[in-house]
Amino acid sequence: MSVSNNRDSFGSKFGIIAAAAGSAVGLGNIWKFPYITGQNGGGAFLLIYLLFVFLLGIPVMISEFSIGRRGQRNVFGSFKAISPGTPWYFVGIMGVVAAFVILSFYSAVAGWTLEYIVKSVTIGFGNQSTQQLGDAFQNFLVHPIRPIIWQLVFMTITAYIVIGGIKNGIEKYSKFLMPLLVFFLLVLCVRSITLPNASKGLAFLFKPDFSKVTIKTVLFAMGQAFFSLSLGMGALITYASYFRKTDNLGRTALNVSLADTFIAVLAGVVIFPAVFAFNIEPTAGPSLVFITLPEIFSHIPMGNLFGLIFFILLAVAALTSTVSVLEVVVAYFSEELRINRLKATILASVSISVLGVLASLSFGPLSDIKLSGKTIFDMLDFLASNILLPLGGMLIVIFVGWYLNKSTLFDEVSNGGELKAGYFPIYRFIVRFIAPLAIAAIFIYSVFYGSL
Ligand code: PHE
Repeated sequence: MSVSNNRDSFGSKFGIIAAAAGSAVGLGNIWKFPYITGQNGGGAFLLIYLLFVFLLGIPVMISEFSIGRRGQRNVFGSFKAISPGTPWYFVGIMGVVAAFVILSFYSAVAGWTLEYIVKSVTIGFGNQSTQQLGDAFQNFLVHPIRPIIWQLVFMTITAYIVIGGIKNGIEKYSKFLMPLLVFFLLVLCVRSITLPNASKGLAFLFKPDFSKVTIKTVLFAMGQAFFSLSLGMGALITYASYFRKTDNLGRTALNVSLADTFIAVLAGVVIFPAVFAFNIEPTAGPSLVFITLPEIFSHIPMGNLFGLIFFILLAVAALTSTVSVLEVVVAYFSEELRINRLKATILASVSISVLGVLASLSFGPLSDIKLSGKTIFDMLDFLASNILLPLGGMLIVIFVGWYLNKSTLFDEVSNGGELKAGYFPIYRFIVRFIAPLAIAAIFIYSVFYGSL
């Protein structure tokens, strides 16, 4: 494989963690996690979610890292390189399709964050009622052009970083943006828990109420774990193909998962106390951070500044994620179609944007197109989070658990015997038995109980 020699790679341990955690930490943590937790009963959902992160998420992540670093190619090419002459590359194709689907709806929401950054510095949030703030968001969403412009701006910034490559693009920006994100989040956390009634919000988040748990809760918690950790579609396979042979895959997976979980919980700690302090419904759904938070910013001193910080935070989190999703498609196009990075990036981002525009328009002009009650946007989200990612994750663990032989897998996670990797037997047991069975069981239950 001559490709591997002149491939770009990450330059430092911190760079790898920043980039992989940058992929994981995104709208999934700060926009989606709070509203899904709000809609699914709070604390009980959090507990089930944590179970999925540790039981399934970390093993799937180690598996993706192993495939990518061994394959040294894009997600499709890695499967081809490791299992020549078999149909496993199909999992790679599914990954590229999932990347298209995710980026199309994700870039729409990412675009909204830019509108709100501008809003914070221009008109601000002061002196507006909940009604007015809600209407403002609604009017923006149904506008036929504005959301699309922001979405395209966001895609362009993403493409710009990806064109820079791994070391001088993705790694460089992640190393700067991720610490900034953590800092902003901590500032907001302090602001939120010092609001009156903050304890009610914390109780909602941390006190489990199991009477709200149904199979749907479990399916959504699993989907959320995959989505939030960027698993099941090859983003981390692609990143791992740029890891060095000395990088510790197990430890990196643990660190990235802990960082992602910590930031999701922290986002909950920012949002729920604020929601309860102002008597807002925690079940508001996707609009939670775009309507309820501005409501809060309109009530507190220096609200516009905190609003600005929050929406920059959201944009930054989204950006390091969109970069990783686009890289899946760019690596695939450039290596498999043998075109250069610039051309591959343009081809990928333009084609994804076409689908993205449809996702955006499904809030306004295309809102009547529905399938079983779901708009195009909802369908794309559901298809990715609750079907493609868990299915991809299941195939990935079956691949490393049953297709790869034990010594090859051990060789990869132990860096050729350099590391002890004492967790290996448990890890292998999970990927062979527990993970595939758990995912399959949840799928089958969901079909019966109608949430699929
Ligand atoms: N993990 C990202 C988030 O939480 C989304 C994502 C999903 C990124 C899949 C890459 C792959 O926002």
